[in-house]
This record gives sequence, C-alpha cells and structure tokens, in this order.
Amino acid sequence: MTIRRALGSDVGQLSLLEKKLFSEENFPLSKGSFRYHIKNSSLFVTQIDYDIVAYVLVLIKRKDAKLYSIGVDGSFRGQKIANQLLQKSIEELRKLGFVTLVLEVRVDNLEAIALYQKIGFETQKRLKAFYGDGCDAYLMKLDIKWEEI
Ligand SMILES: CC(C)(COP(=O)(O)OP(=O)(O)OC[C@H]1O[C@@H](n2cnc3c(N)ncnc32)[C@H](O)[C@@H]1OP(=O)(O)O)[C@@H](O)C(=O)NCCC(=O)NCCS
Repeated sequence: MTIRRALGSDVGQLSLLEKKLFSEENFPLSKGSFRYHIKNSSLFVTQIDYDIVAYVLVLIKRKDAKLYSIGVDGSFRGQKIANQLLQKSIEELRKLGFVTLVLEVRVDNLEAIALYQKIGFETQKRLKAFYGDGCDAYLMKLDIKWEEI
C-alpha cells in the first residue's frame, strides 16, 4: 500500500472512485475538477497494487485549509486507510505552516463524523440546511499546530 500525491495520470481512476462514493445529488467531482485540484490543492491517494482505493482533498487558500472530501472504496473500509491518508495530509499542512484544518460534514454521515472525532476534530457549530436537500452540517475544526518541545 502506498500513500502518495495524486498525479495527472490518476484522473481516470479518481473519477471512477468518485462515482462509486458520491451520487449525483452529492455533486461528485468531475475529471476537470480533479485535474484542477492536482495542480492547485492538496490531493493524496492510497494505491494498492495498480488501483487507487482512496483519496483525500484539502483546499488551500492563503491562510485557510479546508478538508473538502475524503473517500475510501467500499471494499477497503475499516482498515484505517482514511485515518492514514488524513495524517499524511495534516503532516503536509503543518510543513506548509497551516495551524488549523476545518471541514463541513452532513450531520447524518455518522462514519465520517466518527473518523473526524477520532482524529481530534471538534464541532464548532451546526449549520442549518447547509446542503441542497435541507440536511444540516457540522462545522468542525482541528488544531494542527506543531508543538515544539
Ligand atoms: C468515512 C470513510 C472515509 C472512512 O474510511 P475508513 O478507511 O473506513 O476509515 P478508517 O478505517 O480510517 O477509520 C478510522 C476511524 O473512523 C471511525 N470510523 C470509520 N468508519 C466507521 C464506521 N463505519 N462506524 C463507526 N466508526 C467508524 C472509527 O473511529 C475508526 O477508528 P477505529 O477503527 O479505531 O474504530 C468511509 O466510510 C467513506 O469513504 N465513506 C463514503 C465517503 C464519505 O462519506 N466521505 C466523507 C464526506 S466527504
């Protein structure tokens, strides 16, 4: 198993994985979006043999880092793949000097909320009818400051 930065040649597999993970009403990322994020965002993948089985995408602006999306192929869940991917992403964000990572998550996405809580994210507030179908979101935040000893 390898965790590495996504490459342009991964776009086809990323797009297939995205379609498995997110239905149309959840606005799956297009191939064009993946191409854009490979150049402009922080996008890591987990590769097993020749297959991309997971990815994590963090949007980075001047001072802000936002976890936009994370997904693991159904048959590979429960093996700490998402946890490891997020740790890799956080390690990079620290090197780049970011001190917090934020995200929004559907309040009904219990697996994702459990993952984020395990990593140490804390809920900041509940955003009413944040999603198109009326579902609320939790705004969550993680302090990723490097503690100098
Ligand atoms: C959420 C998701 C990324 C988790 O991936 P995963 O690789 O199975 O997660 P991990 O094995 O790394 O789990 C890490 C921790 O998250 C929590 N967790 C993950 N899946 C869980 C589940 N089904 N039930 C309860 N807790 C869960 C646990 O605390 C787990 O730690 P533990 O194994 O020590 O108990 C995966 O379920 C997924 O791809 N879901 C669909 C896409 C999605 O909704 N993404 C998030 C919104 S963008």
